[in-house]
Amino acid sequence: MKQPTVALHPNVSRALLTEDQIRERIRELGAQISRDYAGRNLTLVCILKGSVIFMSDLMRELTLPCTVDFMRLSSYAGKESTGVVRVMLDLGETAEGRDILVVEDIIDTGLTLSYLMQNLKTRNPRSLEICAFLDKPECRKVQVRAKYVGFQIPNEFVVGYGLDYNEEYRNLPYVGILKPPQA
Ligand code: IMP
Ligand code: MG
Repeated sequence: MKQPTVALHPNVSRALLTEDQIRERIRELGAQISRDYAGRNLTLVCILKGSVIFMSDLMRELTLPCTVDFMRLSSYAGKESTGVVRVMLDLGETAEGRDILVVEDIIDTGLTLSYLMQNLKTRNPRSLEICAFLDKPECRKVQVRAKYVGFQIPNEFVVGYGLDYNEEYRNLPYVGILKPPQA
């Protein structure tokens, strides 16, 4: 069935990824993860807040027994990474001996995930991998290896489908490029 066209938010210059493209890709990711972890129990670690929508769509595509947990990290103010990562909310359950899949909205400089992976490794999980919805490879300051990536995108500041600018736009159902601030 053809989707009705969603009117673009006035502060968005164009849609980079449509709802249809996102749904299709998440189906593929779900199938791939379900195959790779067949016979295991997966613990999805959702990185708040940007990953909530991605995580909730992704987990419904998994055919595995899985549990979810949440972490909140902070390294951003507005559009710039500060490089200093702080744990604002930690896991509720132990990571020891578990197959952990970190679900992140976007990899930009890589600083957040690089810090997080070092942190989680010390807790002795059985396995530890990353599933990132978006990846901006041009922006990397430190190397991060994500086993699963939804889409590689150019170096643009994007919002929607969970991603924000100063806490706004998370509810847009598509991923859009934010217009430059009006003078
Ligand atoms: P990194 O530490 O630079 O890789 O930043 C990762 C975090 O920055 C993500 O989890 C997002 O919250 C945020 N971020 C990076 N790029 C964007 C963007 O284009 N739009 C919205 N948030 C972004
Ligand atoms: Mg984030």
